[in-house]
Amino acid sequence: MTSLSGITPSGRLTLGNHLGALRRFTDPDGFYFVANLHAMTTRHDPRRLATLTREFATLMLAAGVPEGTVFVQSDVPTHAQLAYLLECTSYVGELSRMIQYKEKGNGRPMTRASLFTYPCLMAADILLYGAERVPVGGDQDQHVELARDIAIRFNREYGETFVVPQLNKAALATRVKDLANPTAKMSKSDADDAVGTIRLLDPPDVIRRQIMRAVTDSDTEVRHDEANKPGITNLLEILAACTDGDPVELAKSYASYGALKQDVADAVLAVIEPLQKEYARLTTDPGAIENLLAHGRDRALEASAPRLQAATRAMGLAGST
Ligand code: TYM
Repeated sequence: MTSLSGITPSGRLTLGNHLGALRRFTDPDGFYFVANLHAMTTRHDPRRLATLTREFATLMLAAGVPEGTVFVQSDVPTHAQLAYLLECTSYVGELSRMIQYKEKGNGRPMTRASLFTYPCLMAADILLYGAERVPVGGDQDQHVELARDIAIRFNREYGETFVVPQLNKAALATRVKDLANPTAKMSKSDADDAVGTIRLLDPPDVIRRQIMRAVTDSDTEVRHDEANKPGITNLLEILAACTDGDPVELAKSYASYGALKQDVADAVLAVIEPLQKEYARLTTDPGAIENLLAHGRDRALEASAPRLQAATRAMGLAGST
């Protein structure tokens, strides 16, 4: 069952991205990419985009994403090509309902048109490869659902062409919260120095300090209770995700917030430090990274071309007979 996922280089990678998505990019036959085309749906700085794209690709390799599966989206033109075809099968009504569009753009005249059509590009990413599994955090579920709807409709109207992806299975830490504001998502688009956002490449002492200063709740009981104790619940979920534990069970072993925070910091650093070491090692050999990405690009191009061609033909475009 082919797995596929992408990460948008719109800010420096966070612990949320890693726990919710990146560490689940494990299929040696999968397709995992830096979604740089998706990073242009809001105002962007071209130089920063180029730098972040390279940083993300290197971090994916450092995180152990299987070699040959990693590529940069813009290197594989089939994504943008299929996206246009899918725009021609999607409706303004369904795209207007996307939460991300409603939050970031709806109603503002200077909103980029690509923010509106972005879910069609994401559907193209998924459908090009016949991916059934799409490991993503909870904030992307609605987009995967739309990709399913688009695939089902396309198959019905133009003939069986696409595999319908499955809905994301509930995994641990699909919604890591901001440490300073535990009712909000930890987001890479927050300011680089935001105290509640753990960045994968921040120095370990900074990360430890951030965790020790995480906002907690007014009483002292360690309990998993999202509604009444969002701060502690978030820490328990991070700990559980880093140690493959159960957040409700883990809560029982703590009598104080301090001890919990110490263990969370240790567990997070045990995940992040090896990744940082591998990142540092990889950056000493830019040529090797280049080669890996070229290999990933060629493989992705080869795997995606037949489905693009099938969709092109099915829609009756010139040269398709
Ligand atoms: P992006 O770049 O916003 O996020 C990358 C992945 O990280 C997950 N994530 C989180 N998981 C848990 N807790 C959090 N606080 C948290 N924040 C982010 C996201 O859910 C995502 O899985 N549109 C996508 C990228 C994309 C894609 C695709 C994904 C483009 N094409 C095709 C899957 C398939 C995005 O912007 O994710």
